[in-house]
Amino acid sequence: MCGIIAVTGQGATVEVLTSGLKRLEYRGYDSAGIVVCDENGLFSRLRVAQGKNSLDRLDSDAKESEFGSIISGIGHTRWATHGGPTLFNAHPHIDCNGTISVVHNGIVENFRELKDDLISRGHIFSSETDTEVIAHLLEESLISKGSLVEAVSSIAPIMRGAMSFVAISSTEPGVLVGFKRMAPMVIGRASNTWFIASDIPAILDRAEVFYHLEDDHLVCVTGGGAEIFNLEGDSVDLVEFPVTWSLESAEKSGFDDFMSKEILEQPGALRDTLAGRLASSGELILDETTSDPDSLARINKVFIVACGTSYHAGMVAKYAIEHWTKVPVELDISSEFRYRDPVVDERTLVVAVSQSGETLDTLAALHEAKNLGAQTLAVCNVVGSSMARLADTVMYTRAGPEVGVAATKTHTAQIGALLLLALNLARTKGQLYPSEIDALYEELTLVPAKIQEVLNSWDAIGEVAKRFSGSSRFYFIGRHVGYPVALEGALKLKEISYLPAEGYPAGELKHGPIAMLDEMAVVVAIATRTRLYEKIVSNIEEVRARDSSVIIIGNPGDEGQANLGESFISVPRVHPLFAPLVDVVPLQIFAYHMARNLGMDVDRPRNLAKTVTVE
Ligand code: AGP
Repeated sequence: MCGIIAVTGQGATVEVLTSGLKRLEYRGYDSAGIVVCDENGLFSRLRVAQGKNSLDRLDSDAKESEFGSIISGIGHTRWATHGGPTLFNAHPHIDCNGTISVVHNGIVENFRELKDDLISRGHIFSSETDTEVIAHLLEESLISKGSLVEAVSSIAPIMRGAMSFVAISSTEPGVLVGFKRMAPMVIGRASNTWFIASDIPAILDRAEVFYHLEDDHLVCVTGGGAEIFNLEGDSVDLVEFPVTWSLESAEKSGFDDFMSKEILEQPGALRDTLAGRLASSGELILDETTSDPDSLARINKVFIVACGTSYHAGMVAKYAIEHWTKVPVELDISSEFRYRDPVVDERTLVVAVSQSGETLDTLAALHEAKNLGAQTLAVCNVVGSSMARLADTVMYTRAGPEVGVAATKTHTAQIGALLLLALNLARTKGQLYPSEIDALYEELTLVPAKIQEVLNSWDAIGEVAKRFSGSSRFYFIGRHVGYPVALEGALKLKEISYLPAEGYPAGELKHGPIAMLDEMAVVVAIATRTRLYEKIVSNIEEVRARDSSVIIIGNPGDEGQANLGESFISVPRVHPLFAPLVDVVPLQIFAYHMARNLGMDVDRPRNLAKTVTVE
């Protein structure tokens, strides 16, 4: 969740660093900083902490500082993990002599013992961060090693944890050394200018060519080129990859915020997810696979691992896969999966669902699944992300970049991709006739237009939100596939409005949550015509009997379900297993309006970051 940018060569300027950091702002940060190096190896450091517009401050401070021409520089946005969000904890960090500087993403898990050792050898620390140990370790290592790249190579194995970092040394002006292990890092080039960044947007408008860096590899970059090495010191080929995202698509395109833009982009995003996925043989076209074509047929169990909104998409998939394929599906929150004893073997397909493809908990679960011998598949949105490279098979959701911290379009794209996967498993297992699969696929491709119908009710849903903007307690209820929708509706509201909101399977109300219902509570019921329609109608009656306010998400023709004074949001009726794609949209819009009415920053909710690369 921290952001890194580094530049060297002809085009290295302070502005490259500050504007690159600005493009990483959406990831969330609490402090930021840069170190620039001139051709004599002299460092200058600027840092800012906390408060709104810190990056603007960094930019104006940099302009006022009037640094002369620079040969290289590193920059960072920090989201505190070890040590508070203070100025002295802001990156870049330096060693005792101020001749080595480091920016870092992730966690050095054994930093305490490393720090104690370093202190016992006389090093003086000026921050509480785990990052600073890297600078001091390099300081020691450089005494015996001939170069920064050798020094980085020698300290990498002694640090535990998922991390990526870039180091510079005043003894080698113009040299950047980057290291990556289970945290994102990308290399870019534009003629004689080279970049290293944690995320593509940081250098999207600068680099013309992009290269991968694999885990446990390091890269040594100068204005003259880049060389990649593994930890044994062997040289590794630079592998170019295409970046098709335009800078414009990563910006707001005239909307007030990214969240509204991304909610409204859902029909197009889902169309892209579904487009051209079925071969004429009826087979699902996957994006990347190293598995043998028959391996899916051997599957006797599916295990889905994910976090947050991606987990809710995984829940929908469980209903679809079990219904269409009769293959049992287990579902786990990623951070739980790795710490229990999941029953997984080579006939299990472990599906990791993740927008970013970098969420550390899910990445670790995927590693665990591989260690246990399972077949693995990643459903993610970011091409070339760590999960995409680790899994045997990848299905990209193709929703385009999502900047708003609250996931919206990537959620519906995930559900679309997982429904395709379910249909493909049904084909492989011979549980559905090809004609049935074709018909379902056709029906699925009509869903984007249904989502557009919901989007047309944007203002009407805004009116409902206005009615409830004084309410302070929300319960979302649903049954069958309406249950994950209820959970997602509650999560969206919590994330961006900070209002207490819980999601429940409606049948569970009577086992506890009903005690909370009174005239102050607002209950949002997902009551579209899915499998348990009659039962959710009874659950709504239970709510009414407790005088709580009711908002119903229902299908046309069922408006009469709502009593006088209640709100009814109409959504088009679709196949019951496709309903979450449509039913979740009014809840996203409702959460959006509630948060805006309360004056919240919907794109950057407090305490949250877009990509959670810490455990
Ligand atoms: C979604 O609105 C949240 N920001 C969060 O729950 C997110 O879905 C979760 O952190 C998982 O992220 P991923 O999809 O990138 O793995």
